[in-house]
Amino acid sequence: MLSKNIVDKLALVETPVYLYDIGLLRETLDSVCTAAMKYGYKIHYAIKANFDEKILSIIHEYPVGIDCASGGEIKKAIEAGFDPKTIVYAGVGKKDKELKYAIEKNLLAINCESIQELEVIDALAGEMARKVDVCLRLNPDIDPRTNHCIDTGQADSKFGISFEELQDKADWIKSLENINVIGMHIHIGSQIRELHVFENMCRKANSIYQWLIGHGFFIRMVDVGGGLGVNYDMPENEPIPNFASLFSIVHNHLEVGDAEVHFEFGRSIVAQCGELITRVLFNKTTATGRRLLIVDASMTELIRPALYGSYHNIENISAPDDAPNVKYTIVGTACESTDVFGENFTLARSQRGDLLTIKSAGAYGMSMASQYNLHPLPGAIYNE
Ligand code: LLP
Repeated sequence: MLSKNIVDKLALVETPVYLYDIGLLRETLDSVCTAAMKYGYKIHYAIKANFDEKILSIIHEYPVGIDCASGGEIKKAIEAGFDPKTIVYAGVGKKDKELKYAIEKNLLAINCESIQELEVIDALAGEMARKVDVCLRLNPDIDPRTNHCIDTGQADSKFGISFEELQDKADWIKSLENINVIGMHIHIGSQIRELHVFENMCRKANSIYQWLIGHGFFIRMVDVGGGLGVNYDMPENEPIPNFASLFSIVHNHLEVGDAEVHFEFGRSIVAQCGELITRVLFNKTTATGRRLLIVDASMTELIRPALYGSYHNIENISAPDDAPNVKYTIVGTACESTDVFGENFTLARSQRGDLLTIKSAGAYGMSMASQYNLHPLPGAIYNE
């Protein structure tokens, strides 16, 4: 629930605009860092979720490293002050230029996703007279029971090296002169709400770990990725995800000796801290009787509903408390029929000029924004 002060302030700003709750971000970071400390777990923030500079500067105050998916993300993280030795770098399609940059920066680990990538890194590192620390990203073949658009660890997925291929190529990997395999990496998907899925992940990780050490690899870090989901339906009920439960599951099920355990959280750190504020432009009713509420945001600021059919809770923050509820289809300004924020959505009666908040938009909101239709990128306001 936004305070009257903020709503009054928002009335004067250009919309659409992202509003970030810095207090909640800090509480979330406190929560994840305190829970992780109990087991000595290492946390990386998946910068792809939101690379806003103010947000990065706050994350940098905590004992958190960064998980990157491109050379651009590595550069952003380093510019934000993160030590390269706290940065891990995954991605199925790393370009040579990005790999050279990562090698030069001497990251904690490049998480390699294919045999050919290992071969290329070995060659590039040789040319640069460097020895590179890598983790092998393995595909554990697990159904994370999430939206199929964001699962990443099933056998058919493009991510990671299959266990079969690992078995086949293990000796060759060990023979690479410019590569030092320091660990293994698994990331099974995102927005995982059924935590028992992580038990399966741990069991798979255990057997892969056992196999690797049985075959002469020295695994000093096990990176189990991110994926912890958030409550999009009722964000107020769960503003901070339950990191302690996930860590307790991993503690009880992951058996990797003295290896350091790393996590890469994106959504769970920033999703609930951000909301997209938009203004109602028009009301109109289709010939079929559908009541449309046309707002000044669109898929260009928040693509998740159009791209994945994702649900975000929406509230009218201008309507009086006693306004009656009405069912609307809330649509954006883009020239795309899928540009819909909510279908048949119950909202306080809304009119031109009212402000709506689209909640839980701090992760994969601004970072996926585009300039389609030549929309300018939205600004940000920080509620400290
Ligand atoms: N590690 C790796 C290797 C990843 O690919 C991802 C996310 C993460 C960590 C962070 O996952 P998280 O903790 O945020 O679940 N755009 C989609 C989500 C794509 C996730 C991509 N990878 C969405 O809006 O739902």
